[in-house]
Amino acid sequence: MRLSGILLIPLVLCQVVFQDSVQPRDYTIGDDSLLAFHKNLVQISSIHPNEYEVAKYLEEFLTARGLVVELQPVADLHSYNVYSYVKSRDNKVVLTSHIDTVPPFIDYRIDGGRIYGRGTCDAKGSVAAQVFAYLSLLESGQIKDGDVALLFVVGEEVDGIGMKVADLQLNTTWDIGIFGEPTELKLGVGHKGGISLNIEVNGLASHSGYPELGISASEILIPVLNDLMNTKYPVNELLGPTTLNVGKISVGVAMNVIPAHAEAQLYYRVSDNITELQEVVENKLRGIDHLNYTIDVGAPPQYLDYDVPGFDSVILAYNTDIPRLHKNFKKRYLYGPGTIRVAHGDNEYVDVSDLVDAVDGYSKLVLYSL
Ligand SMILES: *[C@@H]1O[C@H](CO)[C@@H](O)[C@H](O)[C@H]1NC(C)=O
Ligand SMILES: *[C@@H]1O[C@H](CO)[C@@H](O)[C@H](O)[C@H]1NC(C)=O
Ligand SMILES: *[C@@H]1O[C@H](CO)[C@@H](O)[C@H](O)[C@H]1NC(C)=O
Repeated sequence: MRLSGILLIPLVLCQVVFQDSVQPRDYTIGDDSLLAFHKNLVQISSIHPNEYEVAKYLEEFLTARGLVVELQPVADLHSYNVYSYVKSRDNKVVLTSHIDTVPPFIDYRIDGGRIYGRGTCDAKGSVAAQVFAYLSLLESGQIKDGDVALLFVVGEEVDGIGMKVADLQLNTTWDIGIFGEPTELKLGVGHKGGISLNIEVNGLASHSGYPELGISASEILIPVLNDLMNTKYPVNELLGPTTLNVGKISVGVAMNVIPAHAEAQLYYRVSDNITELQEVVENKLRGIDHLNYTIDVGAPPQYLDYDVPGFDSVILAYNTDIPRLHKNFKKRYLYGPGTIRVAHGDNEYVDVSDLVDAVDGYSKLVLYSL
């Protein structure tokens, strides 16, 4: 008896802690649960170009709640963007994110306050929170027809085809874009652009004892890489430094053969004027004997709006769909639950508290925008 009396206190304490950790918060609108909706989204595999089922699920869900839904075919019959609104196609604000994920599919698992699985964070957490913010604002009468539309696109993780098609063929514009990606519930101040560079050197092989008979590809490539790595690149006051990654190099066949061939693949994360950087790089590469190169200038850096009361801001080092939407936005915000540090990983997760808080975050951004 004494023994059980002593045990009673820790047992009770345990139970309280236990219950607290297995009953995550939720956000509900009538019978609709944010966690259930997010779970359904995550459980439907949607690796590009196979987003049909998740688009169909969203269509059914949104239609059942009185919204108009357009499925916009992209590329082929398995891939559809979802555009949804009350009645008017034209709206002041668009809440947008992507419904595709990177492979492989990882099933949904909730463990205490944390939800694991592919897309839980990138970006079905954003999709679920945007939908609930939208429905909640409509229900409370804080927004009306013509204020806000939802746009969920495909292929963001591959080539952005979904957003490109939406940009060209949706035939509507918005004043303000609220983009959903994992930002740890902060407003992204922007993200860097990108330039990729392939360099190739074609020399002449010879015996290493007679280097004068050959043309060493490594002796041409290495000084060029050295120069590129030791160049001071512009630093942008908002996005920080432009950085260079020498990602892949291959040279030669054996230590006693003057190498005839060399290749290198480089990637710049560009924080400042991308045209200027292209000129700097090309000036260094042009006119070098035996060397040719291909330069691929991607999207320029994006400078976003982040000055909203009540929000922290964050600088991001990943690419998004934002530069693909050419709509003369007056304001563009990037915001969402979860962190990019786990996106694409085997342990991708989003915290339930982030998911729930993101509904409020999106609601605030919408109301601030209108
Ligand atoms: C937008 O306009 C283009 C060109 O007129 C047309 O092909 C396309 O179907 C339109 N899209 C929508 C969603 O109405
Ligand atoms: C970027 O650099 C290019 C080339 O140097 C220049 O023509 C252009 O005006 C610059 N753009 C901005 C926004 O400064
Ligand atoms: C260099 O030139 C060769 C021959 O024209 C071409 O096959 C190769 O793709 C070029 N390499 C790069 C990196 O542009």
